[in-house]
Amino acid sequence: MANDLWTRRRVLKAIAAAAGSAAAPTMPRSTAATEPDLELRLTAAPGGEPSIVHWHGMLVPEEADGHPRFAVDSGGEYLYEFTVRNPAGTYLYHPHPHGRTAPQVYSGLAGLLIVREPDEAKRALPGREHELAIVIQDRRSGNSFSYSRGMMTQMSGLLGDVVLANGRADAVFRVTPRAWRLRLANVSNARVYKLAWSDGRPLRVIGTDSGLLPGKPLERPYLVLAPFERVEILEDFGTRAPGAEIALESLEFSSLSMGSMMGNMMGGGGMMGGGGMGGMMRGMMGPEQGEPLTVARFVISRDARVKPSEVVLPASPPAPEKPAAALYSRVSFRRMRGFFNGRDFDMDAVADDERLPLGRPTVWTFENDGGGMPMPHPIHIHGVRFRILERRGDGAPQDLREGLIDAGFKDTFLIFPGERVKVHVVPTEPGMFMYHCHNLEHEDGGMMRNCLFRA
Ligand code: C2O
Ligand code: CU
Ligand code: CU
Repeated sequence: MANDLWTRRRVLKAIAAAAGSAAAPTMPRSTAATEPDLELRLTAAPGGEPSIVHWHGMLVPEEADGHPRFAVDSGGEYLYEFTVRNPAGTYLYHPHPHGRTAPQVYSGLAGLLIVREPDEAKRALPGREHELAIVIQDRRSGNSFSYSRGMMTQMSGLLGDVVLANGRADAVFRVTPRAWRLRLANVSNARVYKLAWSDGRPLRVIGTDSGLLPGKPLERPYLVLAPFERVEILEDFGTRAPGAEIALESLEFSSLSMGSMMGNMMGGGGMMGGGGMGGMMRGMMGPEQGEPLTVARFVISRDARVKPSEVVLPASPPAPEKPAAALYSRVSFRRMRGFFNGRDFDMDAVADDERLPLGRPTVWTFENDGGGMPMPHPIHIHGVRFRILERRGDGAPQDLREGLIDAGFKDTFLIFPGERVKVHVVPTEPGMFMYHCHNLEHEDGGMMRNCLFRA
């Protein structure tokens, strides 16, 4: 007899992919342990563009992964069926048609898929009433939905000058003086945030892309959140004065500005780097990486303070197993386009150095060699959760270094010019998946490749 819970289906007729008809980020929530069977139907609105939705971070069968080869034409439908196998965490969905991901996401087609487990109740985490999910996306003011891809945009990715939190500029959240769980997701096309509290308090990180961190919360003065990374933090708003207002900001940094990138390319390092040139470029070319921005404000109510309890995070997972295979991908960006081992996207091709043994550990080394235009790239692998084993090389810039969270399980990581990052991955779903730069303009420009998970 089939267990009732396993046969229950929920149909979420969720996403219409018509260019320009922006949907505010929505949150289909699923409860992993009680409703494991999920059926979702994508309807590409007539008169719109082809599309396909990808469940970013989810371990789903090949056919449910939203690979661009499954894109449906306007008016068409795609049916997804999968069982939620991910641990509780903050996952995403967004369109993935080749060459059109950036404009469709910019139109607002990106949201959270939150997985919950009954298990979480034992962790003394704030309950759902004391939880905020905040989807962060930047936009160009004045033309908030019209998308155009000029030369500068192809290179740096589209950068806005206004930050939307859950679709709103100048968002304000009302919170009570107690501990809150904040799920922060960056669904910006290209912007890297340096998140910090306006009053200088450290942030306490309890989770990353793919679930809770083990052990104790990590404290950081600021957090670097690259496109499509997520982070969960715990904030005790009761430690501020009643009625106080604090902001979640993105602090200024200069290391990723076009000025300093070009400075590095010319071998000048500091010469053109930093604020001066960055500031000049900003004036000339529109919004830049590293501009100070406000993400959202929080107003603390005058209710009675609720003392926080000590959270119980999961025990450390077993150490990564000895690898059965090793892969190497050289990341480069030249003539306005990105490459992995010198190759760009080909809808059906998989090279020998893109095959991973199913069910067995692979150490996959990515090296951003700085050839061509030295740029940071948020690298993402579909259909897996991985661990970052090592980050080496010239290293992350001084003004971002402290905010990188390489702990826990991830599906996206930022790699800076000159860095080499080793990830440990054990694919569990057979089939053809993909990996790519998650700067959406780089991705649409072909900085994307298939990878094959096979026994
Ligand atoms: Cu967020 Cu290829 O995906
Ligand atoms: Cu993905
Ligand atoms: Cu890139």
